Formats: sequence, structure tokens, C-alpha cells
Amino acid sequence: MTRESVVGLQANGDDERVLRTLRPRNLDEYIGQKALVENLAIAIQAAKERGEALDHLLFHGPPGLGKTTLAHVIALEMGTEIITSSGPALERSADLVGILTNMQEGSILFIDEIHRLPKVVEEYLYPAMEEFGIDFVLDPGPHARTVRLELDRFTVVGATTRAGLITGPLRDRFGLSMHLEFYSLDELVKIVERSARILELKVTAEAAECIAMRSRGTPRIANRLLRRVRDYAQVQRKDCIDEDAAVETMDMHGVDEAGLDRLDRRYLEVIIRQYGGGPVGVAAIAATLNEEQDTLIDVVEPYLLSSGFLNRTRRGRVATPKACRHTGLQASGQGALDL
Ligand code: ADE
Repeated sequence: MTRESVVGLQANGDDERVLRTLRPRNLDEYIGQKALVENLAIAIQAAKERGEALDHLLFHGPPGLGKTTLAHVIALEMGTEIITSSGPALERSADLVGILTNMQEGSILFIDEIHRLPKVVEEYLYPAMEEFGIDFVLDPGPHARTVRLELDRFTVVGATTRAGLITGPLRDRFGLSMHLEFYSLDELVKIVERSARILELKVTAEAAECIAMRSRGTPRIANRLLRRVRDYAQVQRKDCIDEDAAVETMDMHGVDEAGLDRLDRRYLEVIIRQYGGGPVGVAAIAATLNEEQDTLIDVVEPYLLSSGFLNRTRRGRVATPKACRHTGLQASGQGALDL
């Protein structure tokens, strides 16, 4: 899944390195997700007091909200090592077995995009998570024998943007399941101010609010926008990031006051112009836009749904009256009213 724009959610190379320096390292530094952080703090303290590994834990929610960050925070709070992998990277069961047999007592195995684990690999994970053992088949054929290998107790932290695609048996093996919500404006302002302090930038309150407002409820986008505004202010020889610099940068990158970027607006425009406002299936929208359906489902739709630009009905996606006002377009069908 790729998305090329300043609000793109894939983090690569240099960008990833800087974004990592901005991540909170422990729960005290973590801004937002209040209920989740409270529950996590209790689970961590209880496991530490008992001297046990933390229960397996599943994070689900849109990209950029802190699933990977929280996995690292947990490792730091538990004082354990963390090994990171992902569903698509664990191609063969041998890849997983190699990792599991090297895990130490209490270690954390972070599996990003866990909904994309191949089935054979997932089946190895079941007994490993439940009984801390894996079964090997020796001498396949009529004399097949299985040998059990005992593992140290460890914790799987799984992350997914698509909780609905996790199989029942895998879901059942997580003792804790936590959903990440989009961040409020206040929380994002605090995150922008914290990042500005780490990057040693002067940012006015108005500029911080402008960046927060346009970051689609997502800290990763807020931090990326902040760095684009920093570039702009530097080239303009401004020693303080003010609202003008913030607004001009956002306009240059096609990010509007609602935080929507070009792909968000094209998505809404296709529903309204081509499909009379909907209802229309996501496959048809993806084909018309020439975009991956997964990108639309994982990245574009969650924020449009949560901010009232889009409704999902049994018959398909429907642009709301708010979407029509925002794009300045009129829906010809009755979709916009069809909730
Ligand atoms: N940077 C990115 N996400 C953050 C968060 N939730 N709290 C503090 N800083 C962050």
C-alpha cells in the first residue's frame, strides 16, 4: 500500500528516522488514547508485579495512530527486548519458528499487519501463543512423529488496520484487544508542540493549531506536516513558524482546512460526480480512481467516515451533504440522503 503525498501514511528512509525521534518512549510521554493508555498501564503494572510476561495484545485502528509506537513503549515499560516483524515478512513457517526459538522470557514479538500472516504461519502461532510450544513433524510419512519444542513465555503484540480480517482463532488468543481512535484537536496541538520542542523550532499557537487541524486526527501526519512547514519557514528566512507559513505550506501540498488531501477529495468527487452521490461499492470507486482498494479502505475511508464526509450503507458508500458542501458539488442521485 503506497500513498504519495505529504499526508501519505507510509513512512520510509530518512522520514522514518526523524519520525522515530519524535515518538514518545514511555507512557508518561504519550499524549492521547487516554482510556487505552490507562488500561495498558494497569496490565503492565500487574504483569510486572507478578513477574510474568504481559498477555498477548492486539492493537487495531487506522494507520499512523501509534500502534508501533505503543509496542515499543510496552517493551520499555516492561524492561524487555522487542523483535519486530510483519505479516507479509513472515512468509514461511520456518521464518516464524526461527524467531520464536530465539525469544527470551518476557520478550515481545511485534507483528505488524498481522491480518496478512499466511495461513500456514498463523497455524504455527496458535500453540506458540497458547501453550508456549511448537510441534515439529519428524519423518513425514507413515512413521511420522511429532516433537514438541517448549518456548520461553513471551508476548505477541499484533497490529492491524483491519480487525475484521483477523481470523476467529487468532483473535481468541489475544488476552487484550485495544482500538486506537483518531486524536482530538487538543491532543494533536500538544503533539505538534512537543515535536517542535524536540526539533528546537519556534511555533506560534496559531500555527500549531493550523497544523493540528489539518492532520486528519493522525500524529504521524501532524509530525510530517510540521516538518514541511519547517522547510518552508526556513527557506522564507522566518525564525518562527507562524500561521501564514503553516497555511501556505498546506495550500502548496493540497491539504485543505478539513485536512483532506487530493486523494480524499478525488474520492468524494468520484462518488458525487460519477455515481450520483452513491451508494456505490468501493471496488468501483477504486477502479475509477485507479487506486488500490486496500488504500481506500485502510487510509482514505476511516477519516472520511469519522469526520462525517462519508457514510457506509449496506448498498455501498454514500457521500454526505457535508461532502457536497465541502467539494462544492451537487449529488444528482438520492444517495446523499440515503443513510
Ligand atoms: N508523537 C507521535 N505520537 C505521539 C503521541 N501519541 N504522544 C506524544 N508524541 C507523539
